Parts: sequence; structure tokens; C-alpha cells
Amino acid sequence: MKRTTLLAALAALPLCGCAQDASTTNQTETAAMSTNKTLVVYYSRTGENYAVGNITEGNTAIVAKMIAARTGADLFEIKTAKAYAADYDTCIEEAKKELRDDARPAIVGDVENFDEYDTVYVGYPIWWGVPPMCVFTFFEKHDWAGKTVKPFATHEGSGLGGSVRAIRKALPAATVADGLAIQGQTAQNDRPAAQSAVDQWLGK
Ligand SMILES: Cc1cc2nc3c(=O)[nH]c(=O)nc-3n(C[C@H](O)[C@H](O)[C@H](O)COP(=O)(O)O)c2cc1C
Repeated sequence: MKRTTLLAALAALPLCGCAQDASTTNQTETAAMSTNKTLVVYYSRTGENYAVGNITEGNTAIVAKMIAARTGADLFEIKTAKAYAADYDTCIEEAKKELRDDARPAIVGDVENFDEYDTVYVGYPIWWGVPPMCVFTFFEKHDWAGKTVKPFATHEGSGLGGSVRAIRKALPAATVADGLAIQGQTAQNDRPAAQSAVDQWLGK
């Protein structure tokens, strides 16, 4: 993995300045049994990544599960129909192209009964300063009017980058709170520090 490649990604950023399974398969059962109105939805990638090597659980996934555990929220993972490359450099190029094209990569599965949730935590890795385009695919599948959205991201230097601004633009009917940023390698390798950041953000 090349540090220079990530640095190139950081340099190219715009001047700005990441329970229960809620998937379609068991959503009906979950909705019927649960009175929970909070959802954690996230995208996270496994494979080779900057600073953490070859990972089998994504950095954002780790944070998403912490938030779901603390809040008792339902949990939904955004999965792309075509997985991004496990190879880091190849994925960097794929992501750059999707961003340039303003692409909406197809995703599989969905949250049913989305209208029942009042608060939605939205988690993602920072890719070229913003969330991966598959997160916008998810956004456009649903009606966000009246929802409170709480963004959280993992990153390796950009913090939230331009992601909260991009989310506010994409979801004008929602109230989008200020977000939480955790370094990916902290989430992956220092769980107590990541948990502490999550708890502070949640006010717990
Ligand atoms: C395609 C791609 C683009 C990235 N762009 C940035 C970036 O612009 N700024 C940054 O700080 N980190 C960037 N990173 C690092 C990721 O945000 C970081 O590794 C994150 O924790 C990955 O989360 P995940 O394991 O949940 O996918 C990038 C990583 C990839 C694979």
C-alpha cells in the first residue's frame, strides 16, 4: 500500500477544513418485535487499507457496532452489488472514478420500514473527502423528511472532510447533526480509545 497514494488523495480534497440487523431478510420480524426508532446504517470496506493492512472487519463497521450497542439501535450495512477491489490502490482509482462520474453504484438489500425510524446514524469511511458514492445510492432510495441524521466517519487524516456538508446537501429535508470522526487505525487497533470517542459523542 502506498502512502503517497493516500497523500495524493488528501491533497486533492476540496478546501474544507463515518444490535440488531435491520436488513430486508429479517426486517419484518424485527419491526414487529421492536419499538426501537433508531437506526445505524453504514458502509465499510474490508481488504487492504491504509495504515491497517489487510482487514476482515472494516474500521467504520467497528464504530457502527459500538454506536448500535450503546444506543440499542438497529443496524444495517450498505453492501454494493459489485464489491470494491480488495487491493488498496485499485480501490483508490475505482473510488476516484465514481466520484468524478457522480456515480450511484447499485446496492443490495434494503431497510424496510425505514419510515419508522426517527434518528438515523449514518457511518462511512472518508473517500476523497466525502462518503463513498454507494452511501448516496442509499440516501436516494428513501424519504428523509423529518429525520434526524447523525453522521460518523472513519478517516486517516481528513477528519469529516466535506462529508457533512455533502450529506446536508443530499438530504435537505433532514436535520443533519455535526458528525463524529475517528481515525480508522484507532478504530481498528485501539478499541478503548474508539469506544471513549463514541461515548463522548453520544453523551454517555
Ligand atoms: C478509496 C479510498 C479513499 C480514501 N480517501 C481518504 C481521504 O480522502 N481522506 C482520509 O483521511 N482518508 C481516506 N481514506 C482512508 C479511509 O477513510 C480510512 O482508511 C477508513 O477508516 C476506512 O474505513 P473502512 O475500513 O470502514 O472502509 C481513503 C481510503 C480509501 C480506500
